[in-house]
Amino acid sequence: MSRIPKSFIDDILTRIDIVDIVDARVPLKKAGANYVACCPFHNEKTPSFSVSQSKQFYHCFGCGAHGTAISFLMDYERLSFPEAIETLAHSLGLEVPHEGGEQEPRDSFEPLHNVLNLADSWFRQQLKNSPSAIEYLKQRGLSGETAAAFGIGYAPAGWENLVSQFSDQQKKHATTAGLSSQRESGGLYDRFRHRIMFPIHDRRGRVVGFGGRVIDPEDEPKYLNSPETPVFQKGRELYGLFRARQQNRHLRQLLVVEGYMDVVMLAEHGINNVVATLGTATTADHLRNLFRAAPEIIFCFDGDTAGHKAAWRAFETSLTELDDRHQVKFLFLPDGEDPDSLVQKEGRKSFQKRIETAQSLSAYFLQQLTDRFDGNSLDSRAQMADFARPLLKKIQAEVLSELVSGEVAKRVGISPAKLLGGSKPMPIEHKPVRRARGARLEMNDIRLAVAALLAQPSLAGKVEKPEALAQLKHAGIPLLLELIEQLRGEPDLTTAQILEHYRDKPESAALHKLAAYEFPNPDNEADLLEKVFQDALQQLRRKAAEQRYAELLAKSPASLTPAEREEIQAFGRS
Ligand code: UTP
Ligand code: MN
Repeated sequence: MSRIPKSFIDDILTRIDIVDIVDARVPLKKAGANYVACCPFHNEKTPSFSVSQSKQFYHCFGCGAHGTAISFLMDYERLSFPEAIETLAHSLGLEVPHEGGEQEPRDSFEPLHNVLNLADSWFRQQLKNSPSAIEYLKQRGLSGETAAAFGIGYAPAGWENLVSQFSDQQKKHATTAGLSSQRESGGLYDRFRHRIMFPIHDRRGRVVGFGGRVIDPEDEPKYLNSPETPVFQKGRELYGLFRARQQNRHLRQLLVVEGYMDVVMLAEHGINNVVATLGTATTADHLRNLFRAAPEIIFCFDGDTAGHKAAWRAFETSLTELDDRHQVKFLFLPDGEDPDSLVQKEGRKSFQKRIETAQSLSAYFLQQLTDRFDGNSLDSRAQMADFARPLLKKIQAEVLSELVSGEVAKRVGISPAKLLGGSKPMPIEHKPVRRARGARLEMNDIRLAVAALLAQPSLAGKVEKPEALAQLKHAGIPLLLELIEQLRGEPDLTTAQILEHYRDKPESAALHKLAAYEFPNPDNEADLLEKVFQDALQQLRRKAAEQRYAELLAKSPASLTPAEREEIQAFGRS
């Protein structure tokens, strides 16, 4: 794979203006120093989507979406990173240079989409020619209309039916797209054989993969999915999302189920706001996609042990992704039933009644506490507190966090502050907590310093004695120092350029959050930022000195070097 040089990405970000990029797709209005619009990533009536020209960064206070012009194109137009770069370069009349490896075609995924489209229409055609496959679908209760609405098809038995449809040129891409496999003896064979085919569409409605169900019960596995390919990531796509949004652009709620047949059968019965994860647990990516599509997400699980385990995992993922504008609920079905079987048995009305009884996330959490701890003894209440604390701390939704913590504290019999106060993750004192609206950010000195640097990279030039900070033992220090050093060399980088440098690194998420942090009093931003920055560094230096002092005192006096004795005395004088 060839890579796009970092310098080219920097160059592009210098030449474009995020305000133009966004405005061409989502018309912006000027509001103070920034530009605003109703957020394109979630449903809202009043604008909370804000674009900063100085930072070249956008942020939605409602759903938390944020990023650079590159991220905007990736999320808004569902482009891959290279595609987004390509789009921007194209608008500037530039060719994307590649280092290492040969030049890639313009849209490197286009050939994959082509073979996937070809396969999609071919499978649908094959279904028309296969009475036994049609009979299978009928017997499962599916009408021709619903099958057509979901583009359901059939992959015939035999090893080379699909591959023989492709030109030699296309064959190469068919394997990359997960449609065929390479024989050891050379040549290709079909991945999907004698299966009912469910096409999986991305948000833009492009076919990116397939799920194939056996017709003969003795065949295995029951469902065969496309492998992960450059255009298909299971942890990201949701089966049925494109169609659900086509049916209703302003979905109020989305039901998340386990299987293809559940989605299709609920649609057969007139329930169209349903998606399925693709044989994987719900990921944070899934949740973000779900929240963009609807304010209320209802997870639907089997009532068996596996269902309860899956629910707990979805609950944990929800804690960090949920904000106060969204709701997550849980619905458990009777043991041995799935939405497919249940809606056929009891019909649309009863199934919808069940949906109304779904448990809210907080009710589910409190129920879990009741199930796990009787809360009768002091010991059991202490255990409850220990169990709940790390989970409560994960909740990003401010109001929800407050309400749930209050309720748990009541059950334990201590104050909410005590409940949350045990084992703070950051050993450094917190300044008064300042909060960006929407996303809660516990700010401490390191984070404040990094946020100030991101907002105004030239501050790096004003750091005196960065070495003194290096002594401080804290997880955030290496990143802070790295940023300071980098920005001293390149003081003209914008926030967006810094963020792009960290795109695939573990620090990326934290940096994005801090880039979205709003300092109070933006009118006087430059002065304020410098003061915040210098104050934070001052605190960190003080902390570093205290740590050093404590370290020296902990040594046995006899083992101290003369220099160390001198250091201790100097502390005494200061
Ligand atoms: P289930 O086994 O619950 O099947 O798998 P189902 O949805 O009830 O299917 P029917 O009604 O028998 O046709 C639920 C989901 O788990 C994934 C699929 O996404 C399936 O829809 N799965 C299941 C696989 O990926 N592979 C398998 O072998 C089985
Ligand atoms: Mn089923």
